Amino acid sequence: MSDSQEHSVTGGILARFLSLPVDSLPRTLFMAVALCLFCSMIVALAAVNLKPMQSYNKLLDKKINILQVAGLYSDGVDVEKVFSSFEPKIVEISTGKFTDKYDPSLFDDRSAASDPELSVALDEDPALIGRKPKFATVYLLKGSGGELDKIILPIYGYGLWSTLYGFIALEKNGNDIFGLQFYEHAETPGLGAEVDNPSWRQQWRGKSLRDENGNLMISVAKTSSNKKFHIDSLAGATLTSRGVDNLVKFWMGDAGFGRFLENLKVGEA
Ligand SMILES: Cc1cc2nc3c(=O)[nH]c(=O)nc-3n(C[C@H](O)[C@H](O)[C@H](O)COP(=O)(O)O)c2cc1C
Repeated sequence: MSDSQEHSVTGGILARFLSLPVDSLPRTLFMAVALCLFCSMIVALAAVNLKPMQSYNKLLDKKINILQVAGLYSDGVDVEKVFSSFEPKIVEISTGKFTDKYDPSLFDDRSAASDPELSVALDEDPALIGRKPKFATVYLLKGSGGELDKIILPIYGYGLWSTLYGFIALEKNGNDIFGLQFYEHAETPGLGAEVDNPSWRQQWRGKSLRDENGNLMISVAKTSSNKKFHIDSLAGATLTSRGVDNLVKFWMGDAGFGRFLENLKVGEA
């Protein structure tokens, strides 16, 4: 078939199609398919173009959370400037020492936690996280003279409905708590989500992880004999509170950052 014959066949099909009534089945189907294709193209374009902005906002949100747990956030604060007083470092959890193996600005803690190369399956898993990362990013807050002021450690574990992700801020002795904050969870508003209530969070300030003999004492419970290590459970949310108790004990204990905090104390991190 010659070019001109091909054109006249195509033109004929198009003319027959256009002569059909607008509400005919072929024209309705054609419009529906064309509309679907157009919309999916718009969605795909938006997803691709917004990806860098999403990554930037995610990183900014993480920095704000770190500032908040360290008590350095207020409305209008220059997040990047204040965040520059933190030194992010990668810690090898098993040795409790800093490592230069990975660049802290590129290391993705969340994906490392599920990467078979960068994590280990847990036999004992009180925080219900399945796998433990081999490395974690910690943030050292430095004073104006470069001296250590606070240590911010990532923590996470299962509550009642969801994994709670957050940070704990410790004073430079690695034992006294400055603050605790979760930045992601799906516990019930008014019940488990009260972990975000400032008055509940306020309780953590000034509490200690370990006693003078090095025993891990911190506890989230309904009652306690020693206020120094005690955080009240949330009323009506015992299960979320138990999850927080488990995850804090896990990450502050020997399986978590226990060795790192010990090394930090004796200057061997
Ligand atoms: C719809 C619904 C949502 C709930 N959400 C939570 C929750 O997020 N965290 C939690 O610990 N308990 C939650 N609970 C309550 C628990 O089932 C359980 O009763 C509670 O943890 C017991 O706490 P209490 O001993 O302080 O009363 C929820 C209950 C219902 C019916």
